[in-house]
Amino acid sequence: MKILSSEITPEKIYKNRRKFIKQLGLTSSVFYLAPGLLNSTHASNNLTDYNYVTSYNNYYEFGTGKSDPAQYSKDFISNPWSITIDGEVEKKIILSMDDIKKLFPSEERIYRLRCVEGWSMVIPWMGFSLNKLLKKVNPTSKAKYVKFESVLDPEQMRGQRYPILDWPYKEGLRIDEAMHPLTIMVTGLYGKELPNQNGSPIRLMVPWKYGFKSAKAIVKISFVEKMPTSSWMKASPREYGFYSNVNPNVDHPRWSQATERVIGEGIMSPRIPTLMFNGYEEEVAHLYKDMDLKKYY
Ligand code: MTE
Repeated sequence: MKILSSEITPEKIYKNRRKFIKQLGLTSSVFYLAPGLLNSTHASNNLTDYNYVTSYNNYYEFGTGKSDPAQYSKDFISNPWSITIDGEVEKKIILSMDDIKKLFPSEERIYRLRCVEGWSMVIPWMGFSLNKLLKKVNPTSKAKYVKFESVLDPEQMRGQRYPILDWPYKEGLRIDEAMHPLTIMVTGLYGKELPNQNGSPIRLMVPWKYGFKSAKAIVKISFVEKMPTSSWMKASPREYGFYSNVNPNVDHPRWSQATERVIGEGIMSPRIPTLMFNGYEEEVAHLYKDMDLKKYY
């Protein structure tokens, strides 16, 4: 079922957005409301205000506070940029951001980002399915996982001067998860270029997993044989597993994951129930058939 985002977006934002999109020459974008959102309550379907999306962030390369990324990424230069796809592939490739924009036009995808900390936002991302990019290389028969690496640039990223995480930021997916059409590479939001604090110029977004799987400022994607150890798994293996699927039935060791706070709804608003796979059960549950999701958290 397809619903125009104009039906759930405050009029003014929507009009502005259409204007931006026109300016970017993206009028052919596909607008649709992700199916997971249809199951949740009305208030939680509203798009999160642009100001919250760009001022309440997690991006430890720029600091651990929620307002650090907006404050300290202002001068971050992400142009020129390229992504290397290597590892267990017949021939590695390097694509510039210009190549990527030409080869893979972005379309709008409205996805909820559910953070492992217990809050969520509904964001109109601009992006394209990661599988289009991955299909540019031929993986060898050894390839089983896909590893993602964010940029390493301590000169521009003050957080990387401290050993807060295992830099560069690393994440991983199983190949079938990476190839799923819902998994996207994001190049913008609200019809605009991706702001620095949200992972400019390109980031991952896996809507059925906790937000930390969606690595920002990606420079390398590698096909690998062994399950990659992500920066969060390395920091705290008891708390962060490889799969990290949104799952209201499996608590984080220190708090429940049953509900979430919708950012921008006001502190008096009740928390809303968290949905299995963030609302994408129908689309992705088959990937985990016969797996004990308490064990593979
Ligand atoms: N990517 C990098 N490189 N560094 C980070 O610290 N934080 C993750 C994820 N991607 C992070 C990252 C976490 S914990 C979340 S919740 C989301 O980015 C937040 O994305 P947003 O700031 O665009 O909402």
